[in-house]
Amino acid sequence: MELLYEGKGKKIFSTTNPQEIRAFFKDDLTAFNAQKRGKESQKGALNCQITSALFELLHTKGIKTHYIRQLNDNEILCHKVQIIPIEVVVRNVATGSLTKRLGIPEGQVLHKTLIEFYYKNDSLGDPLINDEHAILLQCVQDVQELEVLRKQARAINTALKSFFLQKNLKLIDFKLEFGKDSAQNIILADEITPDSCRFWDKESNEKLDKDRFRQGLGDVKMAYQEVLKRILQ
Ligand code: TMP
Repeated sequence: MELLYEGKGKKIFSTTNPQEIRAFFKDDLTAFNAQKRGKESQKGALNCQITSALFELLHTKGIKTHYIRQLNDNEILCHKVQIIPIEVVVRNVATGSLTKRLGIPEGQVLHKTLIEFYYKNDSLGDPLINDEHAILLQCVQDVQELEVLRKQARAINTALKSFFLQKNLKLIDFKLEFGKDSAQNIILADEITPDSCRFWDKESNEKLDKDRFRQGLGDVKMAYQEVLKRILQ
């Protein structure tokens, strides 16, 4: 099958059905716009299982996604969508670039969940944008589409936050990507994995996500295995 697109964490292949694609999860790890690169055996398979379980959970909560089913250790079958070039970041607790940009102390619980838009463009380093930039850049047609992104992101956060709390994990922040399906509905796409989320242990605040790679903390695979184990518990 034809390779349609290769990103930092996944390869996207065509299928015999023009409305469906296969997403292959790679073992590659990148950070800081791919200035730091690495590889972790089984990371792709762990992310594939984690994303499958989380998309299935969201379906039970009435949230539409591109996910159809898991095909094998590293691949999922998905509805083909046209990706909206906006990275929608949802934050419950301050860390990462929010702390750097605005000086909000690391670990401070935000009194209101924050939704941010970043322009998905590697050569520009995925800059933070506002509503007017998103419309100017024609990422979306109008502000109503941005409201759809915000509303869905909040609903996904509500579902995931309470799910992870039952698993003794704090959902600190995460990044979502949306796409338009053949009927032009805006649905969740891409992945939900420890590559794209931050999870802290509820008691110890131990980081169980890609920050272990970003910050050189080690035990990356152990962290991803722990997240999967808790999801399946
Ligand atoms: P940030 O604090 O570095 O802006 O990251 C916010 C969240 O978005 C965090 O959960 C990691 C995720 N993220 C990605 O998935 N891809 C990216 O390219 C970046 C910068 C962050």
